[in-house]
Amino acid sequence: MATLEIGGIDCQRLAEISGTPLLVYDEAKIEQQFTAATENFQSDQFETEVVYAAKAFSCKAIFEKVRQAGAGLDVVSGGELYCAHQAGVPMEKVYFHGNNKSEEELKMALELGCGTIVLDNKMECQRLTELAAQLKKPIQVLLRVNPGIEAHTHEYIRTSGSDSKFGISIAKKNEIKSLVSQAMLSDYVQFKGFHSHIGSQITETTAFEEALAIMLGFIREMRDDYNIQTRSLSIGGGFGIRYTADDKPIPLGEMADILARTCEKLSAEKGVRLEKLLIEPGRSIVGEAGYSLYTVGYSKDTDTKHFLFVDGGMSDNIRPALYQAEYSCDIANRLGEPKNKTYCVAGKNCESGDILVKEAELPDTAREGDLLVMYATGAYGYSMASNYNRAGRPEVVFVKDGKARRVLRRETYEDQLRLDTDEQLTI
Ligand code: LLP
Repeated sequence: MATLEIGGIDCQRLAEISGTPLLVYDEAKIEQQFTAATENFQSDQFETEVVYAAKAFSCKAIFEKVRQAGAGLDVVSGGELYCAHQAGVPMEKVYFHGNNKSEEELKMALELGCGTIVLDNKMECQRLTELAAQLKKPIQVLLRVNPGIEAHTHEYIRTSGSDSKFGISIAKKNEIKSLVSQAMLSDYVQFKGFHSHIGSQITETTAFEEALAIMLGFIREMRDDYNIQTRSLSIGGGFGIRYTADDKPIPLGEMADILARTCEKLSAEKGVRLEKLLIEPGRSIVGEAGYSLYTVGYSKDTDTKHFLFVDGGMSDNIRPALYQAEYSCDIANRLGEPKNKTYCVAGKNCESGDILVKEAELPDTAREGDLLVMYATGAYGYSMASNYNRAGRPEVVFVKDGKARRVLRRETYEDQLRLDTDEQLTI
């Protein structure tokens, strides 16, 4: 009977020291993904930049890894921006996204010296130009546009693109032109180019190739029809990972290489010269590096199901409940035993939908006290965790070469109470 090791460490030992639920990251895997992306996303025709999408998983420790990898950082809130600043991420490498950034957030970005704001709409452009002038702070901008493709896991469909809450449809060329002209009038705002993001967990290249073709065509039209010069193009993130054996994603390095080559080829065909191409991977950097460890508690049989209950659930990973996302799992201390029974792995939150894995093939010897591992939980698990039922958020450890370090401590009852207050408001 073998026990799972992560980064050269026995999982049971980690659970003994840190308790469960526990989120373990294999640091070497994160580093490999950064290297795969940066080394393969290269061109001798334009500059390239890999920008990590913080929303997939953010904390100071991962931001330090972003800094070490020399990558850029995509943030979408004052909170992510603050954390990035505290972690020592060079502010000029930060891209601030979002469809409704507040005045406070824009001011904070300008004051901290954030490199690029990804503008989402006309009102925001107006607000930013005013604030940049007021504070006398220079800022580069990209404009998020919508190329009319929305990609899903296995297929992609064309949508009108006009009803997304993000960005402006590329069909609205006049609106885009007037926004860019407004930005260009400002002494402080420097228009750099466009941004598009077509979806997430995309496992094939077709939708990205199509998006690149559409964006480069659009860039040519903006140049020829409106004299708008585009220096940079970001094609967003969305590169898929392997959650279960059914997922067959293209490895990140290969994807990065294909995108750089496709952009070179299409730019030549369309007569467009870019100075810089960017990608924004989140999930594909941290997803497969993350392992959630849970302790098995009670089990029960119904007429149709064998339930196995674990000590976490939708409060630390809402993806199965929210998106019917599928994961694979094992009994970490029973590797090698025959997987001869189908269990329904359920969490402990007070909601019937709190099922982590609907049908998990596990050994029939699984019992209370065992350690259940869910694979590929490194993206959008912790970052979407909640305190539902006043469940504390799990501890997070990074492991590498037989060493482990705690990067986020377990949330305690006291931590949760620190927000409770009783203050008279002056009305
Ligand atoms: N860039 C932009 C502008 C984005 O909106 C996103 C993701 C990314 C980059 C990173 O995408 P990634 O490489 O991680 O797929 N909560 C959902 C995913 C939401 C993605 C939102 N935007 C989930 O758990 O599947």
